[in-house]
Amino acid sequence: MSAINVEAECGAPEKARACVLLVGMFDKVKKSLLDLKGLDLAVKGAISHVTGAGDFGGKAQQFVWIYSKGTPFSRLLLMGLGEEKKFGPEVYRRACGFAAREARKAKSKSLAVILPDSVGGASAQELAGAAVEGLMMGGYRFTPYKSKNDESGGIASITVRIRDKKGLEAVRKAAMRGKIIAESVNLARDMVNTPANDMPPEAIAARAQRLAKAYGFSCKTLGVPELKKLKMNAILAVGAGSKRPPRLVALEYGGGAQGKNPPIVLVGKGIAFDSGGISLKPPGDMERMKDDMSGAAAVLAAVVAAARLKLKKRIVGLLACAENLPDAAAYRPGDVIRTASGVTVEIISTDAEGRMVLCDALHYARRFTPRAVVDVATLTGAAVIALGYEAMGLMGNDDNLRAALHKAGDECGERCWPLPLWEEYDELLHSEVADLKNVGGRPAGTIVGGMFLKRFVKGLKWAHLDIASVAWSEREWAYKIKGPTGAGVRILTNFVEKF
Ligand code: BES
Ligand code: MN
Ligand code: ZN
Repeated sequence: MSAINVEAECGAPEKARACVLLVGMFDKVKKSLLDLKGLDLAVKGAISHVTGAGDFGGKAQQFVWIYSKGTPFSRLLLMGLGEEKKFGPEVYRRACGFAAREARKAKSKSLAVILPDSVGGASAQELAGAAVEGLMMGGYRFTPYKSKNDESGGIASITVRIRDKKGLEAVRKAAMRGKIIAESVNLARDMVNTPANDMPPEAIAARAQRLAKAYGFSCKTLGVPELKKLKMNAILAVGAGSKRPPRLVALEYGGGAQGKNPPIVLVGKGIAFDSGGISLKPPGDMERMKDDMSGAAAVLAAVVAAARLKLKKRIVGLLACAENLPDAAAYRPGDVIRTASGVTVEIISTDAEGRMVLCDALHYARRFTPRAVVDVATLTGAAVIALGYEAMGLMGNDDNLRAALHKAGDECGERCWPLPLWEEYDELLHSEVADLKNVGGRPAGTIVGGMFLKRFVKGLKWAHLDIASVAWSEREWAYKIKGPTGAGVRILTNFVEKF
C-alpha cells in the first residue's frame, strides 16, 4: 500500500485544486452540506441544474459527476448523504467509502473534500476525520499476490477543505488522526489478507517486531521454550498440530514506572489458520479461516496507532499466536490440559481453540497489574447468529469497562452490543474430569465463549469482544471491502485514547 498524502486547507470551495471535488448533498431537501453558491457559479450553474433535474435527490449511495472546464478542479462529485436528520460522522464515513470507489473508477489521483463548519451536531473536525477514514478504508486494495496490478495506484492525495482559517488547525489534526487510524485498519487488513502460508505465528511476531522498531514501542516474543517454562500448556496444545510453532508476543507502549502507571492490556486471538484441528471443520468456506488472527492483527494495529498518535497512555498488547491443524502431535478431544493458571480444561472440541490460547494469554496479563484487560477474538461463529454482521459481541465483568467500550464503539462507527455472562451459564461448561470443558454445546455459543474466558480473569477488570461477526465481509459496501474489515482497530484505539 503506497502512502496517501493527507492535508487540510481553507478557502472558497471553487478555488480548490484537485482532480475531484467531493461535495455532499442531503436527500429530498436537495440541500448541500454547505453554501455552494460560489461553486455553482464556477461550474456555470451545473449543480443547480443537476439538483433541479429531479433524478438526483441526494439519496445515500447516489453519485453524480459534473465535469468542469476552466476551474482549478477538473471534476465535481456530488455525493448523496441520505436524510439530513439521520446525518452524523458514520453516515459521512460510509458515503466517503462509496465515494472512494467512484473516484477510483474515474482514475482520480487527488481528492478535495469540501466540509461545512458544522452540521446537525457534527463538527468540521469530526467530519474531516470521518472523511479521511472513509476514503482511505474504502479505497483499500490488496494486491501483493497479483502478478499484474492494473490499478495503477488509486488515490494519492486527500485534502479536507473548510472555508475559514479559523478551525483549520483542529481540522488538520483530525484529518491526520483519521489517516493514522485508517492506515492501522489497512495494516490489520493486510495481515489478515496475507494467506496463512505466508503468515504463520513467527511471521506475526516478526511483523510486530518490525513495527515496534519503526514506531517506538517494545516487543518481546515468547517461543516454545519460554512458553514451556511458563507452563502455557493451552497455547502449546493448540500449536502442537502444526510444524509452525506457537508464539506469545508482548508489546509495550508508553513509559512510566510499572506500579505507578498500570497499563491497559489488549489481548488478541492470533490463530494463523483454524482448520478445527482433529475436530476438523467442514471444507465449505474454510479458506476464510486465515482470518482467525484478526484479533491479534487488531491489537497490533491499535498499538501502532496509539504510538503514532503519541497517546499519553501505557498500553500492553499480547498476541496469542498458534496454528490449529490436525497432525500426529495435535491435541485431541478428551485430552485434559493444565493451563498456565493451573485450571484444568477437558477438550471436547479442538475447534474451540481460541479460548485455549486466550486463557494462557489472559493469565499472562496479570503480571502487568492492569487497569483493564480487553481481549479481541474471532471466537465463535455463533456471534453471527446473535448479531448478524452489524455488531461485535461485548461481554465482561465490569460495568464501567463495558460502558466505555460500548461508547468508544458508537463514536467511531464500530458497534458492539452487550451479551450477559450470568453464572447460570456456568453449568454448560461443567466437566466430569476437569475443572471445566472447552465447549458448552449448542445454546448461547458466544456467551459460553465469554463464560470460559471469565474463569481466567478473576480479580481483573476485563471485557471480551467477539469479532467473528464483523471481521470478514462478503460484500463490498461503504468503506468495507470484500474480505477482512480490520475489525477492532478503531474501537480499541478510540477506547485506549479515552479510557
Ligand atoms: N474461529 C472459529 C470461529 C469462527 C467461525 C469465526 C466462523 C468466524 C467464522 C472458532 O475457533 C471456532 O471454531 N469456534 C467454534 C466454537 C465451538 C466449537 C464451540 C464455532 O464457532 O463453531
Ligand atoms: Mn476453531
Ligand atoms: Zn478459531
